[in-house]
Order: sequence, then structure tokens, then C-alpha cells
Amino acid sequence: MLKTALLLAVLATAHSAAAHRGCGGHDMIKRNPGGPVIQRRAPTDEASAAQSTGCVETLCGVFVEMRSRRGRLRRADLPDPNTECAAYSYQPVLDIKANYPTIWQTATIQASDTDATSLFATINATLNSKLPNDLPHGTTTGNWTGVSYNASDPDCWWSWHQCTTPAASTGLPADIINVPEPMTWGLGFDDGPNCSHNALYDYLQEQNLKATMFYIGSNVFDWPLQGLRAMADGHQICVHTWSHQYMTAFTNEEAFAELYYARKAIKDVLGVTPLCWRPPYGDVDNRIRTIAQALNLSTIVWSKDTDDWKVNISGVTEADVDANYQAVITGAQNGTYSTYGPIVLNHELNNYTMGEFMKYAPSIMSAFKHVVPIASALNESQPYAESNYTYPTFEQVISNQSATPASEITTSAGSSATGAASGSSSGASSSASSGTSAAKSGTMSRATVALAPILAAIACVFAVPW
Ligand SMILES: *[C@@H]1O[C@H](CO)[C@@H](O)[C@H](O)[C@H]1NC(C)=O
Ligand SMILES: *[C@@H]1O[C@H](CO)[C@@H](O)[C@H](O)[C@H]1NC(C)=O
Ligand SMILES: *[C@@H]1O[C@H](CO)[C@@H](O)[C@H](O)[C@H]1NC(C)=O
Ligand SMILES: *[C@@H]1O[C@H](CO)[C@@H](O)[C@H](O)[C@H]1NC(C)=O
Ligand SMILES: *[C@@H]1O[C@H](CO)[C@@H](O)[C@H](O)[C@H]1NC(C)=O
Ligand SMILES: *[C@@H]1O[C@H](CO)[C@@H](O)[C@H](O)[C@H]1NC(C)=O
Ligand SMILES: *[C@@H]1O[C@H](CO)[C@@H](O)[C@H](O)[C@H]1NC(C)=O
Ligand SMILES: *[C@@H]1O[C@H](CO)[C@@H](O)[C@H](O)[C@H]1NC(C)=O
Ligand SMILES: *[C@@H]1O[C@H](CO)[C@@H](O)[C@H](O)[C@H]1NC(C)=O
Ligand SMILES: *[C@@H]1O[C@H](CO)[C@@H](O)[C@H](O)[C@H]1NC(C)=O
Ligand SMILES: *[C@@H]1O[C@H](CO)[C@@H](O)[C@H](O)[C@H]1NC(C)=O
Repeated sequence: MLKTALLLAVLATAHSAAAHRGCGGHDMIKRNPGGPVIQRRAPTDEASAAQSTGCVETLCGVFVEMRSRRGRLRRADLPDPNTECAAYSYQPVLDIKANYPTIWQTATIQASDTDATSLFATINATLNSKLPNDLPHGTTTGNWTGVSYNASDPDCWWSWHQCTTPAASTGLPADIINVPEPMTWGLGFDDGPNCSHNALYDYLQEQNLKATMFYIGSNVFDWPLQGLRAMADGHQICVHTWSHQYMTAFTNEEAFAELYYARKAIKDVLGVTPLCWRPPYGDVDNRIRTIAQALNLSTIVWSKDTDDWKVNISGVTEADVDANYQAVITGAQNGTYSTYGPIVLNHELNNYTMGEFMKYAPSIMSAFKHVVPIASALNESQPYAESNYTYPTFEQVISNQSATPASEITTSAGSSATGAASGSSSGASSSASSGTSAAKSGTMSRATVALAPILAAIACVFAVPW
């Protein structure tokens, strides 16, 4: 059947010379060994954290007050990764996790989940009738040894030759890889929420920068407060799957569940339903795009890869990453971006990748006219399924960036400490939507975010004696 098939491994070797060019990066041969090593919390962390968070009501109140005056949602006073990455329990997550797949494991539809089951049945029927020959590729760790594939790329498989435009006959839209605004850096970070992200998020706040955060469902369950901080800070949230594996290797059901439960986790914990996603490693094809589309998730890839995640993996050095950042900045200076802007891949993965962005941010902001989240670059003023959450358009975000000195940015606690502390999943939603109502009123940079409900919900966490 696949007469023209080639051995992928052979082709990948032929293309390995491109590995250091930063040209959309992530070519096969380089990705096979690993990918971002995402540190999973040990299964016992949650139980031990739960024990150590015995919380006296009044004491919690004190912590709420202190944090409210600081106007910050964070787990530690100083951005010390060791302190911030101490595991904790969050009651709203404990309350719902039985309805979810195990974190960091391949998602499957949960037996009792009738919504997921019936939605998937429709999607599966569509896949079987429209794309019967688009079958799983390789393994979920990205091992394509021995995999054969039609050289004309009928599945528009990104990992093959970075295809981002499905054939018109599929009815699928092209992936988003750039922003239409000239001289504009489409800012995003993959793989969060990371436990140690406060230094980065503080920096973004000081610089009045908002970004598109591609969150892993399992990380949202591990680090829900860090995720809530992103909401409070006005960042855009997109889905980055449940367990961060190569999507095209999954069965239809697994691929569906990876997107479905990550989206649901973001809704249950952060209060919003994203309309966008990014495939881990860029690994997407028409089958996966079709599943994403059925979940109302538009596919966002990138046009420039910093390779920050793969330093010291198969020969990529810190100097290579510096050169990749520098090349995008040079592109702004030499006219490459006079008619559009790049979406650049970098990561909220570890101290190095976050520090690297902060190192280059001043040069980026001086070389580019604008640095904005992807929703704003596209004027997507409703980036979530919830129509009552509005996001600033391009015009709004840039006029506020030029108008608001960073030193004046403040957040303050609201007084509506409702339900959130009750520990139910609706509590989690209502705390996040209090944050969204601030955004709705349009004060993005001077966000008067109602932090009190969130803080009330997390008070017990702050009672951990560090
Ligand atoms: C390879 O894909 C093309 C469409 O892109 C198709 O026309 C052709 O039949 C396929 N070849 C095989 C051997 O399946
Ligand atoms: C989905 O379709 C595949 C065939 O592509 C089939 O093997 C599988 O059983 C179907 N799953 C469900 C839950 O219907
Ligand atoms: C990839 O798969 C091949 C064949 O199954 C196996 O021999 C090889 O060890 C695997 N490579 C890695 C890096 O796991
Ligand atoms: C996708 O969006 C449409 C229109 O808003 C809505 O009717 C539908 O329920 C959504 N589908 C899913 C799976 O969320
Ligand atoms: C990469 O390896 C070099 C040499 O061992 C080391 O100095 C550097 O800190 C490492 N960088 C990262 C990001 O791991
Ligand atoms: C602009 O700089 C980039 C990065 O160095 C380079 O790839 C590109 O060719 C340059 N374009 C022009 C028009 O000089
Ligand atoms: C978060 O970042 C820290 C370093 O700052 C790193 O040790 C940890 O592995 C990261 N966690 C995840 C889940 O990537
Ligand atoms: C990296 O870690 C150091 C302490 O080990 C901390 O001072 C610094 O703020 C961290 N950087 C980022 C970007 O988190
Ligand atoms: C966004 O709105 C601005 C005007 O405020 C317009 O110039 C731009 O073309 C719009 N972009 C898109 C993608 O619609
Ligand atoms: C937005 O609508 C959702 C229901 O779709 C509701 O739960 C939430 O409280 C609303 N948020 C605001 C800020 O009105
Ligand atoms: C921008 O700032 C102005 C005044 O500071 C405010 O009125 C407006 O609502 C803000 N818009 C956004 C989108 O943040």
C-alpha cells in the first residue's frame, strides 16, 4: 500500500545538518533522544504535602492579609526555586482528580465520563470516514525507527517536513505559526505552569508584558496556584496536552483524551476553557488537527525555535540558543519582520530557559515594536469558550503598554472572598472568574485583580512553615 514509503530514520539522518539552524528547529534526529525532561512530582508528594498543611483558620487569615497587601499571588517571598517547588496540596484539585486520568500518564477516557464518551464517539466516526489512512506514527517518545511513511506527506505531518497547511480537501485550517502584525513578537511559553516561575512572571509584570501560556494539564494539577497566578496576571492560557507526549503516536481515543482532560483541568482549576493548543514537539498531523478542531482548539505552532529546551541534549549548547535568540532579533533589525511577526518557541521549563528569555527580553523589546500575546496579536477578544471573559485587542494592548510605566502597575485584593475556600471545584472556578471579571473591565495592565478569593482558597498552603 505504501509503495513510495521511505524509512524515516534514513531521512532524518539526511536532514540532521539543519539541527543547529534554529529554522523551526525540532528536527527528527535531534528530537529522538528526549525532549524536555519534565520533572514529575513523585506520587507520594501529594500525600505528604497534605499532611504538612494542617491549617488553623485564624492563622490562614493572617497569611491572606499579608499576601493581599503584597498584591501578589505566589508561594514564596523570594523566587527561590527550591522553596517554590515544595509540593503542596490544593483542595479543589484533590476533590476532582478521581474524575481524571493519572497525572503524567497517557490519558484515556474515564469510565464514568459520559460526556467524553459521547463526544469521542462522534469524533471517532468522523476520523474513520474522513481520514481512514491517517494512522498513528511511531512511539509517544518520538521514536520513529522503522516507521514507514508516504513521502508525499498525505497527513501533513509536522514532524516529517514541518507541514503546517493541510490540503484544502481536509477542510482544516492552516496552523498558526506567525502573527499578522509587523514587527511584533508573538510571546508564548510552553510547558507550564512551572513551580518556580515567579521570577519570570514578576519580570513580565514589571515589563507590562502578557504572554500566551501553553499549559500541561498534569502541571496544572501539580501547581494550581502557579496557574492561578497566570490568570490573575492576565496571561492567555492555551492547552499543551495532558501528559506532554508525541501526539501523532496516540490512538484516536488517547489523543482525544490528552486534549479533552487538559482543557477540562484548565476549566476546573483556572475557570476558563481555552480555544487554542500547541502540540508538544510540534508533533501534529491531520488526524490530530481534526480532534483538536472538534474540541474548538486552534493549532498554534511557531516559526522560530530558540531550542532552549534541548541545551546539553544531543549537542545543542547555550551558545546555540543565544544565537537563535539573536537571529530573531537581527531579523527585526534587517527588515525580515516588516510585514508580519514571528511566533517564537521558548519555555517555562526550568531556571535556564526562563532566565534566557529574561536575558534577551530587553533586546527583543528594543528591536521589535511590540511584544504581545497571540490572542492580542490576532484581536481575539474572546480567547475562551466563556463569552464573558474579554481579552485586549492588539490596539488595546499596545496603547496600554506605551501608556503605563511599569512602576505604576499594581494589583490589589478585592473583598469578595466567596466560595473559593470551600474547596469545591466550583470554588476554584469562581475564584478564577473573579480574576476574569477584572480583566473584563478592561484594566489589563493596572489589573485590579480580585485576589482575595484566590488567596482565601490557598491560605492553607501558606501555612506550611518554610
Ligand atoms: C501517497 O499520498 C498521496 C497523496 O498525497 C496519494 O495520492 C498516494 O496514493 C499515496 N501513496 C501511497 C502508496 O499510498
Ligand atoms: C474508534 O475508531 C477505531 C478505528 O479507527 C476503533 O478501533 C475504535 O474501537 C473506535 N473507538 C471507539 C471508542 O469507538
Ligand atoms: C527506538 O526504537 C527502536 C526499534 O524499536 C529501538 O531499537 C531503539 O532502541 C529505540 N530508540 C530509543 C532511543 O529508544
Ligand atoms: C464548540 O463551539 C461551539 C460553538 O460555540 C459549541 O456549540 C460546541 O459545544 C463547542 N464544542 C465543544 C466540544 O466544546
Ligand atoms: C550545559 O552544560 C554545560 C557544560 O557542562 C554547563 O556549564 C551548563 O550549565 C549546562 N547548561 C544547561 C542549561 O544545562
Ligand atoms: C536578516 O537576519 C536573519 C538572521 O540573521 C537572516 O537569516 C536573514 O537572511 C537576514 N535578512 C536580510 C534581508 O538581511
Ligand atoms: C520547574 O523548574 C525547575 C527549575 O527552576 C525545575 O527544577 C523543575 O524540574 C521544573 N518543573 C517542571 C515540571 O518542568
Ligand atoms: C534561577 O535561580 C536563582 C536561584 O537559584 C534565582 O535567583 C533566579 O531568580 C532564578 N531565575 C529564574 C528565571 O527563575
Ligand atoms: C486587529 O485590529 C487592528 C486595528 O485595531 C487592525 O489593524 C488589525 O488588522 C487587526 N488584526 C487582525 C488579525 O484582525
Ligand atoms: C462567566 O460565565 C460563567 C459561566 O459560563 C460563570 O460561571 C462565571 O461566573 C462568569 N464570570 C463572570 C466574571 O461573569
Ligand atoms: C488600558 O489602560 C487604560 C487606562 O490606563 C484603561 O482605561 C483601559 O481599559 C486599558 N485597556 C486594557 C485593554 O487594558
